[in-house]
Amino acid sequence: MQDILPKLYEYCDQHSTLFDPILPEIERATHLLTLSPRMISGHLQGSLLAMISKIISPECILEIGTFTGYSAICLAQGLRTGGHLITIEYDKENAAIASDFFEKSSFCESIRLYTGDAKNIIPDLNETFDLIFIDADKEAYATYYDMVIDKCRSGALILVDNVLWSGKVILEKKDKKTRWIDDFNQKISSDSRVESLILPIRDGINVIRKK
Ligand SMILES: C[S@@+](CC[C@H](N)C(=O)[O-])C[C@H]1O[C@@H](n2cnc3c(N)ncnc32)[C@H](O)[C@@H]1O
Repeated sequence: MQDILPKLYEYCDQHSTLFDPILPEIERATHLLTLSPRMISGHLQGSLLAMISKIISPECILEIGTFTGYSAICLAQGLRTGGHLITIEYDKENAAIASDFFEKSSFCESIRLYTGDAKNIIPDLNETFDLIFIDADKEAYATYYDMVIDKCRSGALILVDNVLWSGKVILEKKDKKTRWIDDFNQKISSDSRVESLILPIRDGINVIRKK
């Protein structure tokens, strides 16, 4: 089974909708201009984000960790008319790349990019969110969750990336980063305010629904 997984992922890629023609451009630029292009969501995960967003038709989305803008463009696909997406990026160079793509995209009016540490920016956001994507520094996952849970409406989804940490979460001896992720997953599964489902797509996405 392990051997056929890459081929299965390729098959899924080939048979999943490309939700926006700008996405391959962002992917190309990310490989040319950044040092860690593997951080990008990519086609399959991006299609999942777009599909979830289209299903719930959010008015207000928050993304923590913009990178070059790929996932923001995916999440924006489902925005209802007049809705908006706030995305936060710490690194100025990444933010500049994302900003150029947002300007070029059909979402230039509806995406607001904040540059800085999300931990300083989130407390000043007064929106009530329908959809949140957490994809920034892993040690702060629990902090981000605690900061945003009361800013979510009932029924909102919080999607959290990299929750399988290359499969290391099931190892008996866990390094520091793996323990952060494992502790976060434990925290979610014992929080009675939410329901959750971990999807083993790419590096694992925790789909958390506020009751
Ligand atoms: C894995 S990448 C995000 C990938 C992006 N969501 C995508 O799918 O294309 C994580 C990003 O979070 C940013 N980041 C890290 N710590 C942050 C913080 N404290 N506040 C805001 N952004 C942060 C990093 O600079 C990096 O660009």
